[in-house]
Amino acid sequence: MSNISSKSKTGGLAGVVAGRTAISSVGSEGTDLCYRGYSIRDLTKHASFEEVAHLLLRGALPTQRQIDTLGIRLQHNRELPNDMRRLLETLPASTHPMDVLRTGCSMLGCLEPEQSFEDQHIVAERLLGVFPSILLYWYHYHLDGKRIETATAAPSVAGHFLSLLHGQDPKALHEHALDVSLTLYAEHEFNASTFAARIATATLADFYSAITAAIGTLRGPLHGGANEAAMELMHRFATPEEAESGILDALAKKRLIMGFGHRVYKIRDPRSDVIKDLSSKLACADSDRRLFAVSEKIEKVMWEKKKLFPNLDFYSATAFRFMNIPTLLFTPIFVIARVAGWSAHVIEQRSDNKLIRPSAKYIGAAPRPFEPIKERKGAAS
Ligand code: COA
Repeated sequence: MSNISSKSKTGGLAGVVAGRTAISSVGSEGTDLCYRGYSIRDLTKHASFEEVAHLLLRGALPTQRQIDTLGIRLQHNRELPNDMRRLLETLPASTHPMDVLRTGCSMLGCLEPEQSFEDQHIVAERLLGVFPSILLYWYHYHLDGKRIETATAAPSVAGHFLSLLHGQDPKALHEHALDVSLTLYAEHEFNASTFAARIATATLADFYSAITAAIGTLRGPLHGGANEAAMELMHRFATPEEAESGILDALAKKRLIMGFGHRVYKIRDPRSDVIKDLSSKLACADSDRRLFAVSEKIEKVMWEKKKLFPNLDFYSATAFRFMNIPTLLFTPIFVIARVAGWSAHVIEQRSDNKLIRPSAKYIGAAPRPFEPIKERKGAAS
C-alpha cells in the first residue's frame, strides 16, 4: 500500500503517440502483447529468453547456429573487470541493488566505452551477460563477505542468475519459471524507462548513458519497483481474511495498491495469467500456499471493488518469492530482462533519429519588471 496519491492535474502523456516502433505492440485493444509480431503467449511457450533477446535486438527469430553463438558470447560476457569488482566492494552494503546496477552500468561505460555506434550490438550483449554478475558479486560480497566467481556453466541467463544467487544448480522448474519471467519482462513498448532510454539516445549520447537513464527511471514504485512493493504488501497479511479487510481499509483511504492497474491495459494484463499460473506451480511449501491464497484474495477484492486487475508485477512477486529470491532483487531482475528491450529501442532510435524535445504549456507568472534587491551588500552608494 502506498501513501502516494494517484491524482494528478496533468495527463502524464496518456494516449499521446510519442513515436513509431517496430519492436512491440500491445495490440489495437491493448490486450495482447506481441514482440515483433509474435504473441508473448507463443514466445513464453516455445522460445527461451535468449531467443527472445535475439528477436528483439536483430528483428527476427534466431537459427540454431545463431542462438548457440549468442549463448557462447553471453557466457563470455559474464566476466567482471577487476576495477568493477573493486567498485562493487566499495559501495555501501546499504545501497539499493537498483543503485548498484545503475552505478555498475555507468562504470562499465568508463571501463569499456562505446567507441562508435557500430559497437552497439556488442554493448547490448555485454550488458545482457554482465548484469547478473554485477548484482550478485555485490550481493555476496556484502552479505557474506564472499568474492564469488561470476563464471558459471549455466547456458541460460535464468540458470546463471539462480546458480550465482544460491551457489548451486537451480531446480528445472525454477529455471524455467525465471526464464519465462525474463521473457515477460523483456519489452513493453514506450513505457517510462524505455522512453527515458530513447530520449537519452536521441541526443546521440552513448549506449551506457541511455541504459543508465532507463535503470534510474525503472526504480520508482509506479514502474519497476511495484513488484517489491507488492511483496511487502502481501507480507503484511497472514490470512486471506486479513488481506480482505486490509485492502478494503486501504481503498477507503484512497491508497494505491501496488501491482494493480496499468496505463495501457484497461481490461487485463496479458502477462499476468502466464506468471500467475507459474506462481501457483511454484508454491510448494505450506507457507507458499498461504501466501498464494492471500494474493488471490487481494486480486478478488481489487476486481470486485475497483475493477482493477493484477499487472505483471503482482504475481511475479510471489513467483520470485517461491524461488527464494530476496525481495530487494525483484526490480533488478526486471533490469536483467528489460535491457533486451531497452537496447532494441536504442538501436531503433539511432536508425531514424530526431532529438526528442516536447513543449510545455506555461502556467507561471506573466512577464513582470525586474526589481533588484534593495540595499544590496557591497553595492556602490
Ligand atoms: N490501486 C488503487 N487504485 C488505483 C490503482 C491501484 N493500483 N491504479 C489505479 N487506481 C485508480 C486511481 O486511483 C484512479 O481512481 P479515480 O478515477 O477514482 O481517481 C483510477 O484507478 C485511474 O488511475 P490512474 O492513476 O489515472 O491510472 P494511470 O494510468 O495514471 O496509472 C498506474 C497507471 C500503473 C501508474 C497505476 O495503476 C498505479 O499506480 N498502479 C500501482 C503501481 C504499479 O503496479 N505499477 C506497475 C505498473 S506495470
